Amino acid sequence: MVANDRAATLAAQQATPSPDELARRVEQLKRERGAVVLAHYYTPAQTQALADYVGDSFYLARLAKTLECETIVLCGVSFMGESVKLLNPGRRVLMPAPEADCPMAHMVEKAEVDRIRATYDDVAVVAYVNTTAEVKTWADVCVTSSNALKVVRELPQRNIFFIPDANLGSFIARQVPEKNVILNMGCCPIHDVISLDEVRDLKAAHPAAEVLAHPECRPDVLAEADYIGSTKEIINRVAASDGSEFIVLTVAGVAAEIERLTPGQNKRVYFPATTPICPNMAKVKPERLLACLEDLSGEVALPECPEAAGAPLERMLELAAR
Ligand code: 13P
Ligand code: SF4
Repeated sequence: MVANDRAATLAAQQATPSPDELARRVEQLKRERGAVVLAHYYTPAQTQALADYVGDSFYLARLAKTLECETIVLCGVSFMGESVKLLNPGRRVLMPAPEADCPMAHMVEKAEVDRIRATYDDVAVVAYVNTTAEVKTWADVCVTSSNALKVVRELPQRNIFFIPDANLGSFIARQVPEKNVILNMGCCPIHDVISLDEVRDLKAAHPAAEVLAHPECRPDVLAEADYIGSTKEIINRVAASDGSEFIVLTVAGVAAEIERLTPGQNKRVYFPATTPICPNMAKVKPERLLACLEDLSGEVALPECPEAAGAPLERMLELAAR
């Protein structure tokens, strides 16, 4: 190694603190900044370990409103940071990886929403929370995977235009035959590629395992599942079960919370062979969290039309609480 290379390597080693040192600095900065750190289950396990609260998207959105802190740091993708900001417009909201975006959040066109509204008198536009703030302004109400069924049932309208996820929309449609659910052809690129063949292979290899799936999976995959739920519901189900083997059809980040909740229980969790990882959630590394707390970077701006984008989120909280 030439001298310049060695100096660069040494400088990089000094710049990257050890995990213990990083955790110490994060804790110290949280106190100094009056910051509370929230993380989604799909972020790296080391990031989840540094958070004050870890949860699914509904839990994080609801929780953020109850916190009494100056600054909320949201470890997740941009629609999550935007939702926290819309529900807490006066609060500083930071994202360690502000460029981390959910591709599904953009998979619907305004023209399509306008066409459906013009076609049906009695229609509610229901936006999965995995949408940009602009898309939320087109909607009557938001939902997450853990409250979608309850919220849709509470709506007075018979026609429901469910955007953007066709898989979650058709999962809900099968449970509300009294409604006419119109689907939009968006999907999560991570859940939508989990194939029936790989699920059947997993079941053949682990015949005693319970199969748990996130409703963003395709209908033929969901048909193989014993249980369908949000990330938090899947985690809770594994933790509460007497079983020891589980096939889990969602992003592998949920394994960290399952391990934390079931110490020494030797629960075996199998994921599809093409391990589902959300590349955007993976960007929220512990080093990015530290840097965000150090320089208070990644501030989420209040989106345009905050009232119109925030109203469907507030309506979701109200209907889900009934
Ligand atoms: P949850 O609402 O289950 O946390 O899911 C969020 C998500 O992005 C799933 O891909
Ligand atoms: Fe979006 Fe899919 Fe990642 Fe969830 S897992 S944040 S839906 S890309």
